Amino acid sequence: MVCLGNICRSPLAQGIMEEKAKKYNLKDIYVDSAGTADYHVGSKPDSRSIEIAKKHGIDISKQRGREFSEVDFDIFDKIYVMDSSNLYDVLALAKSEDEHKKVDLILNKIYPGENKSVPDPYYGGGDGFEKVYQMLNASCEKIASSLSKK
Ligand code: 4NP
Repeated sequence: MVCLGNICRSPLAQGIMEEKAKKYNLKDIYVDSAGTADYHVGSKPDSRSIEIAKKHGIDISKQRGREFSEVDFDIFDKIYVMDSSNLYDVLALAKSEDEHKKVDLILNKIYPGENKSVPDPYYGGGDGFEKVYQMLNASCEKIASSLSKK
């Protein structure tokens, strides 16, 4: 799960995906998140993301920010990015066609082929974080349910 800062969207995506893995009893799955920028390496998730996750019964407070690196292509089978700018930055580090194919916009799981972005809630107010939670919840549900059928 990759976003820009690894403090708002992708930590939430990681927490939700870990919950779905439990719900669907997916044992051979390892979930992590990262940011394409290094601004928040070592930081806790944004307090608003921690709160929204908590409201939905998920604890993401132990996560710490890290920067996406090309080694992640060796570790992970799938790399879900939040927006088109993350997509551009991650693909710039891909070294092969196989690595390219690992990367997708997470909202393509629920809106196939539409290439929509998860809006960055960092500078916004209101219910931005709840909206992001709902989008990520629906996408992770889809990922987990399809994995459970494999
Ligand atoms: P995220 O949100 O990419 O969802 O973690 C952001 C967090 C921090 C910044 C930008 C976006 N920032 O500029 O510090």
